[in-house]
Amino acid sequence: MGTTVIRGGLVITAADEANTDVLIEGGRVAALAAHDSEVARAWAGSADRVLDATGRYVIPGGVDAHTHMEMPFGGTFAADTFETGTRAAAWGGTTTIVDFAVQTVGESLRAGLDAWHAKAEGNCAIDYAFHMILSDVNPDTLKEMDGLVDEGVTSFKLFMAYPGVFYSDDGRILRAMQRAAGNGGLVMMHAENGIAIDVLVEQALAAGRTDPRHHGEVRHALLEAEATHRAIQLARVAGAPLYVVHVSATEAVAELAQARDLGLPVFGETCPQYLFLSADDLAAPDFEGAKYVCSTPLRPREHQAHLWRALRTDDLQVVSTDHCPFCFKGQKELGRGDFSKIPNGLPGVENRMDLLHQAVVDGRISRRRWIELACAAPARMFGLYPRKGTIAPGADADIVIYDPAAIQVMSAETHHMNVDYSAYEGRTVTGRVRTVLSRGEVVIDDRSYTGRAGHGRFVARETCRYPG
Ligand code: URP
Ligand code: ZN
Ligand code: ZN
Ligand code: ZN
Repeated sequence: MGTTVIRGGLVITAADEANTDVLIEGGRVAALAAHDSEVARAWAGSADRVLDATGRYVIPGGVDAHTHMEMPFGGTFAADTFETGTRAAAWGGTTTIVDFAVQTVGESLRAGLDAWHAKAEGNCAIDYAFHMILSDVNPDTLKEMDGLVDEGVTSFKLFMAYPGVFYSDDGRILRAMQRAAGNGGLVMMHAENGIAIDVLVEQALAAGRTDPRHHGEVRHALLEAEATHRAIQLARVAGAPLYVVHVSATEAVAELAQARDLGLPVFGETCPQYLFLSADDLAAPDFEGAKYVCSTPLRPREHQAHLWRALRTDDLQVVSTDHCPFCFKGQKELGRGDFSKIPNGLPGVENRMDLLHQAVVDGRISRRRWIELACAAPARMFGLYPRKGTIAPGADADIVIYDPAAIQVMSAETHHMNVDYSAYEGRTVTGRVRTVLSRGEVVIDDRSYTGRAGHGRFVARETCRYPG
């Protein structure tokens, strides 16, 4: 691999915007220099490859810290493999995913992690890392957590939802948090009161309320807020930092904001579906609402403004996708006549960078905040920064050349995710990925795929470096 120069673009990082050219050597960013400076002109003269970014943005590749490729759920598997899902990610300008390895009840963390390595290795188009889902917290599991941190799997997801599947009670959660406090791991929480939700599910079904929209009603916003509050207090007692995943309710955001006002190391992510979709989608007729079943659920539209505000005030720090696609035909359909049997999850790994760019166009966030939320903050949060999430000397050359003026219509007809519908079907957005580099290799070249399965490598992560 020789040298590449990206010239003429506006380089945007979380910290800065400047008209600089980027020199890439050995898969890393070697240097930046003002466009049309003598040094930049010399690079262009001698580089093996010059990529013209005139009129375009040059941004760090997206870091999607929440995906579920081939995830088993509700008797089926998420429809994207590591091969199809990472290729779709690349098309959408994401160059690193952090996927969730799953511990099955009765099995070790090792067994779960090995199984995820086996699924991913040799198949990924872009770099990948893992979090570990703890489904069975016991003395052996707790010991294993230390070893995982040493191997670069430095975050652990626990569930207050899904009794009988992934659920952990408060005692187990507290023990896992105490362990994480000692070994530098970060606990990620699915904060919904699953015990109470299951009562409401049973009552809804008994009363004949079986449509997808009832999925949203039984997973009450207050039960997200209650679990968020409880998770925060447990983390305080344990002296551990906490990262709450897929925050969707105004009342849950308020819990996070209150904790952060106290100076606690409490963090939160939301996802594009909570920012752009709502309970109205879940109420679509003819079972179409099943396409929008995920947990936490889509909320009434009023919640969106609170999420956007929290993204601006840093009460939420990260936007990830929770990409967990199930086809409408044959998968979502498993829940016809019983919403509780609809596999939970939405596709989105390809759409995140563009939807957030639309938020820039709409004036909701700044360009730098776009990069902060989608690249830099997730990289810092999960021990990937500054290797990922920025464009700076020494960083991996994971770079996107982005056309901020292109108009596209999102559709299942044209997306690359292995799923038969788009959650954003027919939506027009401004902005589109043109070219994507992963460690200096061009994987999307002016909107053709030039990557390959097996280019992507496992990235061992450091522990969380987020300030505060
Ligand atoms: O509905 C969702 N979010 N499915 C994926 C699993 C999870 O809880 O993140
Ligand atoms: Zn979850
Ligand atoms: Zn309000
Ligand atoms: Zn998830």
